[in-house]
Order: sequence, then structure tokens, then C-alpha cells
Amino acid sequence: MRDNQLNSLIQQMTLEEKIAQLIQLATPFYQGSNYNGQITGPIVELGITEEIVHNSGSVLGASGAEEVISIQKTHLENNRLGIPLLFMADVVHGFKTIFPVPLAIGCSWDLGLAEKSAEIAAREAAVSGVHVTFAPMVDLVRDPRWGRVMESTGEDPYLNSQFAKAFVRGFQGSDLETDKNRVAACVKHFAAYGAPEGGRDYNTVNMSERQLRESYLPAYKAALDAGVEMVMTAFNTVDGIPASANKWLMRDLLRDEWKFDGVLISDWGAVKELIPHGVAADETEAAYKAIQAGVDIEMMTACYVKHLRELVENGDIHETTIDEAVLRILRLKAKLGLFEHPYRAADESLEKEIVMSHQHRQASRELAAKSCVLLKNDGVLPLQKDRKIAVIGPFAQSGDILGPWSWLGSKEQAVQLYDGLTEKAGSSLLLTAKGCGIDTGTEEQLNEAFDIASQADIIVLALGEDSEMSGEAGSRADIRLPEVQIELVKKLKQLHKPTVAVLFNGRPLDLHGVIDHVDAVLEAWYPGTEGGAAIADLLFGDVNPSGKLTMSFPFSVGQVPVYYNHFNTGRPKDAPDAQERYVSQYLDIPNQPLLPFGFGLSYTTYSYSEAKLSGDSINLEQSLSLTIKVTNTGKMAGEEIVQLYIQDLAGEVVRPLKELKAFEKIMLQPGESKKVTFTITEEQLRYYHSDLQFKSDPGAFNAYVGPNSQQGQALPFQLVK
Ligand code: GLC
Repeated sequence: MRDNQLNSLIQQMTLEEKIAQLIQLATPFYQGSNYNGQITGPIVELGITEEIVHNSGSVLGASGAEEVISIQKTHLENNRLGIPLLFMADVVHGFKTIFPVPLAIGCSWDLGLAEKSAEIAAREAAVSGVHVTFAPMVDLVRDPRWGRVMESTGEDPYLNSQFAKAFVRGFQGSDLETDKNRVAACVKHFAAYGAPEGGRDYNTVNMSERQLRESYLPAYKAALDAGVEMVMTAFNTVDGIPASANKWLMRDLLRDEWKFDGVLISDWGAVKELIPHGVAADETEAAYKAIQAGVDIEMMTACYVKHLRELVENGDIHETTIDEAVLRILRLKAKLGLFEHPYRAADESLEKEIVMSHQHRQASRELAAKSCVLLKNDGVLPLQKDRKIAVIGPFAQSGDILGPWSWLGSKEQAVQLYDGLTEKAGSSLLLTAKGCGIDTGTEEQLNEAFDIASQADIIVLALGEDSEMSGEAGSRADIRLPEVQIELVKKLKQLHKPTVAVLFNGRPLDLHGVIDHVDAVLEAWYPGTEGGAAIADLLFGDVNPSGKLTMSFPFSVGQVPVYYNHFNTGRPKDAPDAQERYVSQYLDIPNQPLLPFGFGLSYTTYSYSEAKLSGDSINLEQSLSLTIKVTNTGKMAGEEIVQLYIQDLAGEVVRPLKELKAFEKIMLQPGESKKVTFTITEEQLRYYHSDLQFKSDPGAFNAYVGPNSQQGQALPFQLVK
């Protein structure tokens, strides 16, 4: 249906019907074919009528072809004008076949596999009746105390932007109207949700517009440039005004400057939360501020349906404001073909064939192996298959490896670490014991683990955070592993056996007490449905680790926020002429993170040589080529992620010491060398000036190319007018 048809439909709608299109309710409000018209609990609780449910615009969290078809059918029977529901859900990193959490996918630096994971998630979701996914989450993160860092791809604006585009392409494909195997994507959480003070979820976000534009906004804009259909507002304030009431953010920036004319949905309850935020005296004012800010859909609260009518009747808002919101929602329904095909791709028989297929699980296993990061290896890895291995720890036999946003993922169907190792090495050489729980343990468990480990040649520790210890509302002030797990490490260290630690966690941790007591550490994050199999592939060397960190691991939580693209300050500690004391430093810990952005080891080694620039200056039209030779100097084939960083030595405002500008992932056989070439242009040198102009300045720059954000020689060049 085109806009003219939609507008004529809107003209047939009553004001109540229009306003009801703007509410999104969760599944319990709808009872599908057994909907008996009774006023159910949720309806009463929310203080709405069943009339509103019959006229509502979208559903949150329904899935399964049967359920969706049933709800849609009943809805169409009760909706006067036959306007279909939009079905939306959190399909963040997989629908039922769960992929690694996005922070892990980020560490793969593999945009192709990231896109493929979103495509597979969309395929499974679409056949199960989902129309829109609340993903990708592209919030930039610098504070591992925040529980939702696991949902982000990390601390770099450029890399996050590349992943944002890859995820949107995967979810939406190139033509959402004709490709029924895709879903509309919803980029979130707009904006800067990843920067709460204290790393405490939902807390205040305070930063200059310049920093917002330089670091936090690029990935949302990248998602818009990739054609994302929907944007979700963040819970937090942006410069003192909650995002859902922030007219500068939502109208001036998102709609006017960025020309976004898609649907804007509030995050859960964010409209009504304007009251506790202290910018709305009551639900009427909350409704007024949100609709004026351009929020089209109110998720899970009822300020709109209860108060917009009176606001129109009092002349406080124009009915055209509501018509615009309704048109954007109906336009999305039309783009998805719901007026003609209200059940879209929902198909019970196909669902059984497609969801959790072997092919999808294999894709998850491949991406999981590339998302793990080898943080330490004193030669104990890869494991030999003829050695006796003791797998010890709370994650040795745990299905809690899907992460906190895995929604429909089945922990029971996840491949546990012990299963993965058994599949490879057979159970005869495998021993196991829990050793302790996540954060509780007994002397008996410890002693049992000690006995088991004493019978083995090598110990594989399986440690980490319960998935409830990260994700939404999962902020932690202490980012170490729980004490009982540190105790387990110490106890088993008494055996002086080769020991590997595999970590299952949703954030960079303070690894003291672990990394300094074992011979190897593999960061597995929450690796998804095939996690145990992927880790076994890595531990036995069938896959060579290639992942690299996209979020710094702090030396301790006292360093946070710690990130690679920081400013130098006027008293840099590592300046050649730095004083002993009066420099920017801590008295008790180093400034540098324990493990930097871009860091990751391999079972082989690589050398970087013959780095050179094609010239020593460029002007606005020219470009420079930076070439470097990378050699696999070890005995095993591997993938290396070559990174290009640029430093602006003197800007109109202070500039980060380094900024990632490009990367390339190359496969090298043992002994093989490849020449990698990067192109440097003036565009990459642009930044936000104090007047918010985005432009470059003539001056001196350094290019660095290397294996991570800390290594790589400086290659100077000039930008000239
Ligand atoms: C949650 C999350 C958001 C999610 C939404 C719907 O509060 O903040 O990311 O999409 O509710 O579940």
C-alpha cells in the first residue's frame, strides 16, 4: 500500500483507533484464538480496555508460527478496519540457534560472519512469525561495570559502525518487501545508553554534544545509512533530558538532520519513566513530551492511550502529530506486506525444518570459534588428544553459555564444554568435577576437584559469570570472578600441572587471581548454542584462535573507564621527559589496561615488516597507500587481523592518541607472507571541531599498522591544503 492509500485509511480511523496504533503490548494481552473477550489481568493492571487491545498496533515478544497466526487471526476479527498487528521481539544474536553475544562477535572482526549470523537469526525469526527485531544494539561502551557491554561490539566508533551495517544488512536483506525471510531491524538504544555514570544501568549520561557526535553517535548513523527501519529510544538522559522526551535528539538530529522518517519506539516503559526522571508531572505530561519529541510507539505503558485524546481536544497537540506517527507505523506494516499477507512468513511446518537446523548450528560454531580470544598461552595449548584432561569448574557442564539476551535459546540444547571435549577426545581421557558453584562452594567440592585434577595430565578450568551477572540491570561494581572461583584456581595451582582457564563472561573482567596463576586463558564470552564444540575446536587446535579484543580489559576496576582511543593529557606519564610524580598516573596501579583493544594471541606467530607510506603528504584530493608485509613465522596456519590506526598530532581540539581507521583479516599458511595495503584519505582525518563542524585540518599525522592498538611503528605524514 502506498502513502495515498494509507492516508485514506487513516482518514477512516477514529481518533481512538489512531491512538491505539501507538501502543505496543506484550503477548499476555493477546490470547489468540482462545481469546474469550474477558478482561484479563494485564489489561486491568494497565488500566486499559479490550477495545484498545483490539485496536493496538504491535505486539512485543510473541513468537512461534502457531501463536502468531492465532493472535493475528483473532486481532483481524476484532479490528474494525482489519489493520494487522506488527510482531516485534528481541532477536539480538540468534533466534533459537544462538550465536555468540555481540561483544564476542565483535572480537571476530568478521563482518561477513556477523552479517550471516543476523541473516540466519532473521530466517528463523521470520518463519516463526516475527516481523521486527529489536537489534542491533550499537551502544559504544567503555565501562565493563555496565551489564550490557555484552550486547555491544565494543569501544571503537569505526568498528561498531561496520558491525552496525553488517547486522542491519543481515536482518533486513536488500529488499524487505519481497524477501520474506528477513525482518525489519531496530537500532538501539538512541542515544549513548552505554555511558551511564558509574557503569550503573539506567543511570545519568552526561557528555558534550561534541563527544556524543565523535564517539557515541557514529554507529547509530551507520545503521541508518544501512537503511534500518526503526530506532529505539534509550532510558537515559542526554544532556539533562531523557531520550524519549528529547526533541533535540529525536527531532532536530534524528529526523531533521539525519532525515530518518522510520518508526521511533520507546524502550520498555521509557515514556512513563519521564515522571520519575522528573521532567513530567504526570502521565499526561509524559504523553505530551514523548509525542512532541516524535516517539511513535509507546512500549508497555499507556500514557498515550489514556491521555492523547484529551491533549488533542485541549489543543495542546495537533491531531496531525498523531496522524504522522500512525502513518509511519502503517508504512512499516505495508513495507512488510502485512495488509496483503498478515501472517507474512509464519509457517509451522517450515519452522520445524529451519529453526535450529544443523546448517545454522554449524554457522554458530564457526562464528563462536572466531569470537573467542586467546589471552595467554605459555605453550600448553593446543591440547594433545592422548593426554588425560580434568575439566573443572562451574562451567564444565553448564548450558548457561547463551548469554542474558538469548530469549528463545535453549540452554538444554547448548553444547556444554564437557560435551565438546568429549566429542573430540572421547570420554575415556576426560575427568570432570564442578569444584565450586558460580559464587558459592564447599570444602567437599574443592577437595573432590583436587582429587580429580591430581589424576589428570592437564587441567582445563571452566570459570565465569552466571548470565544473570550481566545483561540488562546486570551492573557489577567488582568485576573480578567470584571469590570461590579464585579459591579454586589457587587450590589447583598446588598441583603444579599445566592449567588452561576458559572464561564464560559478559564483560571484560579484572583477571587478577586467574591469568597470573594459569598457563593459558581463552576468553569464550557467552559463545552460544555450539559453544562447547567451538571451544573444543580451539583447545585441540582444529581451529587456530584469531579473535581480538574490541573492549579493553582493565588492570582493575579502579581504572574504569579505560579505552585505547583516549587523549594524551598535558602530563602524560610515558612522555620522555615525564616527571616522577606530577604526571597523570595512579600511585598503585599502571595506566595501561591489562589487555588492550585489538589484542589477541594465536597458536602461530606473525611478523610485521617493511611498513611504508607511498608519500609523506596528501591534500584534500589525494590519498596515500600504506603497505606492510605480514609473515606467518610459526608452524600453524592462522588468520591475522591487521589494524590501521591514525593519530592527529595537533587538532583544533584534543585528539585521541590513536583511532582505528581500517582493518584487514588475512589467512596465512606457515611461512607465508602477504602484503597488506591500506588507503589513507583526507576523509579519515576529519573530526568534530569546537563549532561542531566535521572537517579536517592541515597538519602532522602518524599512521600505525600492527596487530593491536599498542603495537606498530609510527609512519609520519602531512595533510596539506
Ligand atoms: C528492554 C531493553 C531493550 C529491549 C526491550 C524489549 O528493557 O532495554 O533492549 O529491546 O526492553 O524487550
